[in-house]
Amino acid sequence: MKTAQLSGNKGGVAQAVTVLQNGGTVAFATETVYGLGADARNSAAVAAIFSAKDRPSFNPLIVHLACIEMLESIAELPKAAQKLLPLWPGPLTLVLPRKQDSGLSDLVTAGLDTVAVRIPAHPLARELLRRFGGPVAAPSANPSGKVSATSAAHVLAGLDGRIAAILDGGDCAVGLESTIVGFEHGTAVLLRPGGVSVEDIEALLGENLALPTAKEITAPGQLSSHYAPDVAVRMNAENPLTGEAWLGFGQHPRTAPGLNLSSTGNLTEAATNLFDALRKMDAICKREGLKGFAVAPIPQTGLGLAINDRLKRASAKRGRHPLTKV
Ligand code: TXA
Ligand code: MG
Repeated sequence: MKTAQLSGNKGGVAQAVTVLQNGGTVAFATETVYGLGADARNSAAVAAIFSAKDRPSFNPLIVHLACIEMLESIAELPKAAQKLLPLWPGPLTLVLPRKQDSGLSDLVTAGLDTVAVRIPAHPLARELLRRFGGPVAAPSANPSGKVSATSAAHVLAGLDGRIAAILDGGDCAVGLESTIVGFEHGTAVLLRPGGVSVEDIEALLGENLALPTAKEITAPGQLSSHYAPDVAVRMNAENPLTGEAWLGFGQHPRTAPGLNLSSTGNLTEAATNLFDALRKMDAICKREGLKGFAVAPIPQTGLGLAINDRLKRASAKRGRHPLTKV
């Protein structure tokens, strides 16, 4: 399959809509990471997402909508979820009770009675969703188990020839996947830290976000080594050891090859740079013949929670299951 590269303008969006209408797969920019989209009502189209990514088919997908009005036919909105609506459009995903007649392919929800929903803020994603006029299922646009894509070039590096088209919306501003919140007996539960901070969510809820019980963390997307570069990653390091490259945060004397996530110690900048930096560190290690890289400590506040979560997964031994608690 030849992957059509569509530019981020009206003409490109129109072509992307046509691909979606014909049951094809389109990678598109969102403010978090690039998504690999298909019509969420069309099982063959959704199956093409799984096969392009080599994703285990029991891992459910996020449904992307243009606006809140489109939610009504798909899912219930618990009271606690209603409090979080000011965060839409934005980097927040809500796992909601699915309506019986949602019209969604069962592949999207992997047989669960809940559905993950997000209204993204990126103008190009919104235009695509608005003009398509239906729900778009989209996981991150990377081969399963690899680092998410925050640019069109990243998407092509992993999926060129495996997807019908890519709609180029430039570099992703947030750079981390959405924060995922579920609801248990009316209580909001953090399923994945991400682009909206826990602090911002708790401010709207007026109470603390609970951590998930064992049941939820069995979702394959929560496997500990989900965001993996090829080389070894050691986090919370004060200094690189012999044979290691260095991924810094804040001021640090450079004693090894590497990069800095944010030399001023800015967590928002570090989040934006994270996945690109993980890819580049992989390349640096391979070029320099190093076994892996060490990462400076990242404060566990604001977006630091999500950055540390992704780093934990990147540094986890491949193939191990238990979720590292946030
Ligand atoms: O920012 C994002 O969230 C990006 C953009 C493209 O929207 N999407 C993304 O999708 O990161 P993905 O598939 O890579 O991660 C979605 C996660 C997976 O871990 C999946 O298991 C979980 O959401 N998920 C989806 N539906 C769920 C459900 N009904 N219950 C629990 N977890 C669910
Ligand atoms: Mg993903």
